[in-house]
Amino acid sequence: MFFEQIATGGCQSYLIGCTDSQAAALIDPELHQIDRYLGLAAREGLRIRYIIDSHTHADHFSAAKQLGQTLGAAVVTHRLSPAPYADLRLEDGELLRVGGLKIQAMHTPGHTRDSMCLVAGDRVFTGDTLLIGGTGRTDLPTGNPEALHNSLFNVLLKLDPEMKVFPAHDYKGRQSSTIGDEIASNPRLQKRDLGEFVEMMNQLNLSAPTHLTEALRTNMSGGKTVDQLLAEAAASTPFVSMRELADRVTRGELGFTLLDVREKDAFLAGHIPGARHLPRGQLELRVNSELPDPFARILTACEFGHISTLAAATLRSMGFRSAAALDGGMKAWREAGLPLAEGP
Ligand SMILES: [Fe+2]
Repeated sequence: MFFEQIATGGCQSYLIGCTDSQAAALIDPELHQIDRYLGLAAREGLRIRYIIDSHTHADHFSAAKQLGQTLGAAVVTHRLSPAPYADLRLEDGELLRVGGLKIQAMHTPGHTRDSMCLVAGDRVFTGDTLLIGGTGRTDLPTGNPEALHNSLFNVLLKLDPEMKVFPAHDYKGRQSSTIGDEIASNPRLQKRDLGEFVEMMNQLNLSAPTHLTEALRTNMSGGKTVDQLLAEAAASTPFVSMRELADRVTRGELGFTLLDVREKDAFLAGHIPGARHLPRGQLELRVNSELPDPFARILTACEFGHISTLAAATLRSMGFRSAAALDGGMKAWREAGLPLAEGP
């Protein structure tokens, strides 16, 4: 069996494959690591057949939809997952055949109602049902401490004590544990009584994960994150450095239409000499009158360099093939002491 654990900022993803057939499955991929997974699979000569989400993640962005599309691989979830982009929805006990490797789903609701653990050979991928020295929380949408108690004590912990445990998160750099070790030393598993366990889970008082709203929105719908929109815009747009632009301003030869896409007050307070004001909110409505030449060089600028990237990408998609964005924004421009003009 090919096995690689990919740990990034507390999130754990797993690439497992059959070394005879070179077929593979990727468990709990994270959106920002897509190139890493693809590079790893290519380096090992693996064909990823399945992208498996152990549950609906509330704390990070799943790469399942995008990788499924990129690779032509099936996105796999539990039947109760709300994700409209899932291709295979597993029931408890069903298994996937990945070449000669078998991956079996165990429905283990509690952290979320669509949580599943995945057994492959001598190891179990526990998602957020069981962590090393902990369990997933039960206070986020569809969480249920009674269900988690049942999933742990009547399902997961009945596995062979020698079985290796690989969770979806670890914030202390640990790689794995075993069912036996967790039964013996995991503090949460010492509360075997249902009432005591539920009381403990209900009193954890954890703060909400960062990006909760955005993670649930995108993971449940297949929609894009803000970072994704920006990354896609950046990938389709060339940039001009602040130094290059400053030199052109100093020479008094811009060589392109410089569009400041911020709001009016910000423009009036200070802009790059020679810039024209066209706020992002009016861009599409005013391009026909403001930018009659589709071949003209256009450079967009904003406060931080994000909105200008979106604006340049929009212009390029509308046929302005020479639109580019400033690599940086007015905040950095001011902080660098570069020249400013005020007023209209
Ligand atoms: Fe989770």
